[in-house]
Amino acid sequence: MNAAEIIALKAQALAEARDATSPQDIEAIRVRYLGRKGALPAIMKSLKDADPVERSEMGKQANLFRQELSSALESKASESESGDTVRTPSRMDTSLPGQWPSRGSRHPISIVIDDITAIFRSMGFTVADGPDIDSEHNNFDALNTPGDHPSRDAHDTFYLDNGDLLRTQTSTVQVRVMESTPPPIRIIAPGRCYRRDTSDATHSANFHQVEGLYVDRKVSLADLKGDITYFAHRLMGPGVQVRFRPHFFPFTEPSVEYDFSCHICKGSGCRVCKNSGWIEISGAGMVDPRVFENVGYDAEAFTGYAFGMGVERIAMIKYGIQDIRHLYDNDVRFLSQFS
Ligand code: PHE
Repeated sequence: MNAAEIIALKAQALAEARDATSPQDIEAIRVRYLGRKGALPAIMKSLKDADPVERSEMGKQANLFRQELSSALESKASESESGDTVRTPSRMDTSLPGQWPSRGSRHPISIVIDDITAIFRSMGFTVADGPDIDSEHNNFDALNTPGDHPSRDAHDTFYLDNGDLLRTQTSTVQVRVMESTPPPIRIIAPGRCYRRDTSDATHSANFHQVEGLYVDRKVSLADLKGDITYFAHRLMGPGVQVRFRPHFFPFTEPSVEYDFSCHICKGSGCRVCKNSGWIEISGAGMVDPRVFENVGYDAEAFTGYAFGMGVERIAMIKYGIQDIRHLYDNDVRFLSQFS
């Protein structure tokens, strides 16, 4: 062996060290070159028989070989201990299946709110917003709800220590918008509401409504019926029927409750509609002049309609969900069906 061959062998050993991917690889290289029976001790032994002219250069190259390979193996070993060994491309198994990030889906409540919002936007409504915690004024007083009205009872409403409350209806936003904006007005307001209800298949202490308010000169009950019916057809399909029943709310006169024909049994009667063929959606009516006076509107010049809409109810009939609690259990097996 001459000096040039020692240099070539060193290059080979360093390449092997670079490609090593495990502590076992590193140890095998060390044994093969530096070990007692390895290549370097053999070279050292051969020096005494070497040509005297070559000998010193060979000795120098052999020492460099030992130093460089030792430090290469050392740094490789500490790299693999810290776990950041880079796998060489030749060791990558390209036949393994890839890992796909799992994809989330929108919550059915959000889907229904987005659908409702898109339809009313196309009818010229804008979206208004209000806080979940609001005043008795916005939730009751300005809405013409007398002080002894049963809905104000602490059995039904969550009050805070400072006298504010968790809003029981999105009708609070009607008051907020009218107090800050002159007519005409055409808004919807989606949001959470809270009532002290015991939860069962159709009730939850926390639920969602979409409020609607349209105020202008000459708005009539016919506009309310026509707009709600048009909306129902857009949301549920042209087959749905809408029914208005007389009702009472302190802030509308006249007042109605309105129902959609049951989407599940098409009106013939099933569990979800309790065999009636109809599903109650919410209340509506013509804004009571007392409410206009409370917010400073001219009750002689303007009329308006207002409606509420139960988002969970709509989600349940749209998707055939039999228990409202499914919407709050956060079970991904349920939620992932609504992508
Ligand atoms: N806020 C009423 C409720 O929660 C519904 C409603 C809204 C009625 C607007 C009339 C007008 O029951």
